[in-house]
Amino acid sequence: MSLENAKGMLIRATQGKYAIGAFNITDFTQLEGIVEAAVNKKSPLIIQTSVEPSKFYGRKMMAAAVRAIAESVPIPICLHLDHCTDVEYCKQCADAGYTNIMIDASKFPFEENVRQSKEVADYCHRVGDISVEAELGTVSGVEDQIKVVEDEARLANPNQSVEFVERTGIDLFAPAIGTAHGVYKTKDPKVDFERLGKIAQLINGKGVRVPLVVHGGTGLPPHTVAKLIEVGGSKFNVSTELKYTLIDTTFNYITEHREEYNPGKINVAVKNAIRAAVEKWIDLLGSAGKA
Ligand code: 13P
Repeated sequence: MSLENAKGMLIRATQGKYAIGAFNITDFTQLEGIVEAAVNKKSPLIIQTSVEPSKFYGRKMMAAAVRAIAESVPIPICLHLDHCTDVEYCKQCADAGYTNIMIDASKFPFEENVRQSKEVADYCHRVGDISVEAELGTVSGVEDQIKVVEDEARLANPNQSVEFVERTGIDLFAPAIGTAHGVYKTKDPKVDFERLGKIAQLINGKGVRVPLVVHGGTGLPPHTVAKLIEVGGSKFNVSTELKYTLIDTTFNYITEHREEYNPGKINVAVKNAIRAAVEKWIDLLGSAGKA
C-alpha cells in the first residue's frame, strides 16, 4: 500500500476503542523489525523519526525508504516526524514525503504555540494529504514526571485544549497528562486519566474530530495503557524501549560471538528482538487484525 497520513487510521482506532503504536526508528534495522511485526499482526502502523535520524539519513532518503517498504506490504503505514521544533524543517519534511508532521512549540507561551502550530497545519494541508500533530503543556523527561503531575499548570488545560485545537486546525492533539519520555522510575507512573477523558469529551464527544496522542509509551503498565485507550487515547508513542532493544541486543550478540565479524547476523538478531517487542505492543494496544 502507499504511505498514508495518520488521521484516518486514528479516527477509526478511537471509534473502535483500540490504539495504534507509533514507533520511533533511528535506523533501518529497527524499521524492518517494526514492519515485520505489524505485517504479522495485520496492524496499521505509524513509523516515526525524530529530527536527528531524519537529518542523519536525509529526509528524502528516509521518506523514500519508508515509502518503498510501505508499498511492498499489505498494511497501511504512516511516516511521522516527531517533536520537530523548527517550522521550516517541518515544511521541508512534508515536501520530502513524510505523511504526518509534529510541530512541537509547546515550550512557548500559548499564543506562540498556536501561531507556529497553525502555520505548519496550514502549510501541510495546502501541499498534500498530510496530517499535523501539536502539543500543549509539558511532557517531561522522566526525572521530573512527578513534579509535572503535581504542577497542574504544566498539564494541558481542557478548555484551553479546545481553543488550541480550534484555532490551529491541527489533526492530532497531544495534551500533557503526566506521561514522560524515557524510563519511568516507578512501575506505576502517575497519569492524569481524568484530564485526558475530559479533553476527549470536549473535543471528540460529538464524533471523533481530532484523535488524541499519548507520549512516553515506554514503561507504561498494561492497565494504564488500557485505561488511557478507554478514555480516548489512540496514538501511543514508543521510542526508548526500541533504543534499549537495539543497543542491548547488539551488545549481547557481540559479547556472545566475539570472533564472528558478521554485521548481517547482528542485524538479524536486532530485527528479531525489535519485532518481538513491537508485537507485544500491538497486542497491548488492540490493533492486531485492524489493517
Ligand atoms: P518514550 O521514549 O518514553 O517511549 O516516549 C516516546 C515518545 O513519546 C516520542 O514522542
